[in-house]
Amino acid sequence: MKILFIGDVFAAIGREMIETYLPQLKQQYQIDVVIANVENATHGKGLNKRHYEEFLFQGISLMTMGNHTFAKKELFDYIDEADRLIVPYNQPRALPGMGSREITILGKKIRVTNLLGITFMDGKSQNPFEAIDDVLKEDTSDIHIVDFHAEATSEKIALGYYLDGKVSAVLGTHTHVTTADEKILPQGTAYQSDVGMTGPYESVIGCDKDSIIKRMKTGVMTPFLVAESVGQLRATLLTFNDQNQCIQIERICIDPDHSF
Ligand code: FE2
Repeated sequence: MKILFIGDVFAAIGREMIETYLPQLKQQYQIDVVIANVENATHGKGLNKRHYEEFLFQGISLMTMGNHTFAKKELFDYIDEADRLIVPYNQPRALPGMGSREITILGKKIRVTNLLGITFMDGKSQNPFEAIDDVLKEDTSDIHIVDFHAEATSEKIALGYYLDGKVSAVLGTHTHVTTADEKILPQGTAYQSDVGMTGPYESVIGCDKDSIIKRMKTGVMTPFLVAESVGQLRATLLTFNDQNQCIQIERICIDPDHSF
């Protein structure tokens, strides 16, 4: 079985990259399941219902979120019926949504869990190490992918080792920068600190670079602007054997410097 995980889809250009390249990727790599982090898919923050439905139509089976989950308030209106959407499991308990879901594809029970980091984040989430223990108590899946939406590589690496042998893969999201540390950990869990962003190529993690430079140089808060740029796609491909062990993890990069 082959599972493609697409990194943080950011704004219109990120959605266009999926529309353009996902059919080709599916064909070339014989992909069975597609998962994507879509917390920034609508105008760079949040996810509206139209884009959620577009992703489903394009064959994305499960979607994960992050620290911007409720940036688009309409999510409160459709989240109860969005049965392929996974919000951070350790978000404040008052917020709605499912933090871990299992679906069956080709006879395999595929579980995806979304977790938020707490290091350099907003401090409102439950400890992710404790939270995932709760998920594991109930888990009977064949393949379990954890999207760890976090800032600090140290926290990500630590969770990877904590979950080694307990889940199939720990893939990081949120920093929007692909890390070159994909590996299979000693007890068989596939790991990568960050899958990277599917969005504007010439940008500061998706935002207009000039406005961000101005903000950083002067300290004056500039408006949030999505960068106008050609696109990039970042994804990670996981290959499983018949015993549900991940035997290969590989990065996929598409942009003007990495042709497809
Ligand atoms: Fe994020």
